[in-house]
Amino acid sequence: MTKTVSVALGERSYNINIGPDAQMSAACALVRGRHCLMVSDSNVMPAWGDQCEAILTAAGATVGRATVPAGEQSKSLACVQDLYDQALAQGLDRRSVIVALGGGMVGDLAGYVAGTYLRGISFLQMPTTLLAMVDSSVGGKTGVNLPQGKNLIGVFYQPIEVVANLDTLSTLPEREYVSGLAEVIKYGVIWDADLFASLESNVAHLASRDQAYLTEVVARCCAIKGDVVQQDEREGGLRAILNYGHTMGHAIEQVSSYNTYLHGEAITIGMHYAGLLSRDVLGFPEDDRQRVNALMAAVGLPLTFRGEMPSWDAMRQAMSADKKTSAGVLKFVLAKRIGEVAFGCEVDDDLLVQHCGCLVDG
Ligand code: GLY
Repeated sequence: MTKTVSVALGERSYNINIGPDAQMSAACALVRGRHCLMVSDSNVMPAWGDQCEAILTAAGATVGRATVPAGEQSKSLACVQDLYDQALAQGLDRRSVIVALGGGMVGDLAGYVAGTYLRGISFLQMPTTLLAMVDSSVGGKTGVNLPQGKNLIGVFYQPIEVVANLDTLSTLPEREYVSGLAEVIKYGVIWDADLFASLESNVAHLASRDQAYLTEVVARCCAIKGDVVQQDEREGGLRAILNYGHTMGHAIEQVSSYNTYLHGEAITIGMHYAGLLSRDVLGFPEDDRQRVNALMAAVGLPLTFRGEMPSWDAMRQAMSADKKTSAGVLKFVLAKRIGEVAFGCEVDDDLLVQHCGCLVDG
């Protein structure tokens, strides 16, 4: 039942192994005879540390642990320093491996430490959230936040392997799981109309976290991301399409101080918005637009703001300040049809304001 997806990046190529726990030790062969520092957070380590340590020891590694407090505040230079201290105290050398066990925060933080400790040591991703499995654990973006903004410090640093143990999804809170489905739906919209149609037909399997179906879906999403990253590892162009719905989504997260919407919820509202812009700018068919909205709603994602709309001026400013904006000009990823998008699209300000009004309930 395990699936393997390969990301071909020359000497930085790696496999992504997806499936239930039972088959995962074989997937970790690269750690044999090496010392691993398993980095996790205070929620995931107690829940999954023992099982994942057993996977690594069965694969022939010795394992130490480092736990950071759960929450985005740990994605900081202070935590990086703390992990360097723990790595030195445990005697990690150039052959050692840092293992990120957790969601996007842990993967980004541990990946940054791995990419910079002793000028870079091996890094293995063990994502435990749907979002991390289909997005952040693949593609090599690592980093931490500064008080001035998110992800302002970082390196592109690819893992040696990604091990997505689907058992870990069983303890993921429902809201977090559904939030991850936003990124899954995104892959259908930007790249794969067949995946999108499959998701439409399998909402019940998604809701029940059916492992067989999720193995197929996570593998397909990783293959799409791998394909994009192989073509544009450092986001010179094409990789931007992974940010469909994210220009508005990031702005929503920022103006609500990252405490009202989970990432997937904010980008769902952003994909609703991008659908409206796509219809008016690129002729995205209305039927496709409705299908995207219907699927997002069917899995339990919000299409509109909770309560009052955040200030348009604040959102406009946040969109302009996004580090993906070039020379102050807002560029959007817009859909042509389900399965195909264009990037670098400019949109009139009047349209931007007008459609923001559609994101309010009622
Ligand atoms: N999450 C978007 C990217 O990896 O480029």
